[in-house]
Amino acid sequence: MKKEQRQRIVDRHRDSLKRHGYHPNALYWSSIEIQQLRFKILAAVGMKEADSLLDVGCGFADFKSWLEGEGTAVKYTGVDLSPDLLRVAQQKHPDAALLCGELLDFSFAANAFDWVALSGAMNEQLHDDGDYARKMIAQMYHISRKGIAFNMLDGRTINAHDLQSVEPHKMLKYCQTLCKNAALLDAYLANDFTIYMQK
Ligand SMILES: C[S@@+](CC[C@H](N)C(=O)[O-])C[C@H]1O[C@@H](n2cnc3c(N)ncnc32)[C@H](O)[C@@H]1O
Repeated sequence: MKKEQRQRIVDRHRDSLKRHGYHPNALYWSSIEIQQLRFKILAAVGMKEADSLLDVGCGFADFKSWLEGEGTAVKYTGVDLSPDLLRVAQQKHPDAALLCGELLDFSFAANAFDWVALSGAMNEQLHDDGDYARKMIAQMYHISRKGIAFNMLDGRTINAHDLQSVEPHKMLKYCQTLCKNAALLDAYLANDFTIYMQK
């Protein structure tokens, strides 16, 4: 990602955190219900208690608390570009491993985490025809032992100049080039879809 694109993400979240404090709106989610519905779909890939999980674009690490509330406490690592959100996340989760940066800054080994998940961290419009998103997905898959689950905005229902949205079947086709066991879920929200890639 270009330096100015990274900076834009950092700045936007610093501002939204000032405006909203610890609230899903600071993450650009419209409500906690919408945020948690995405968590529910991601976790249903097969996450089990004590599995290790890397959460890419973790924000406040709310996925960690949500999983704990469901009785599925995982060994959690979060990565996020925003130092401001991570500061809040670390106060809320002193026990969590939280790393500042983008996924491709880190050289995690193949199979380093049971699961790698991502919610909402590929919604930034980068004007690259999805190239960066495909690189992220390939790396997430590479460093997972059991598989990955991620969501993106649905290009069939969202077309906004500042948001990246993609055609779900086109993305599924790409994922199938990496993983024969890739599946699309697109019936839980009008403007979002999830892909599972299981090993
Ligand atoms: C919509 S928020 C969702 C946060 C969290 N996943 C959740 O659902 O509560 C998107 C998050 O992804 C982070 N982000 C966006 N692009 C990223 C990237 N390339 N690498 C790491 N973090 C990124 C943002 O800083 C923000 O915290």
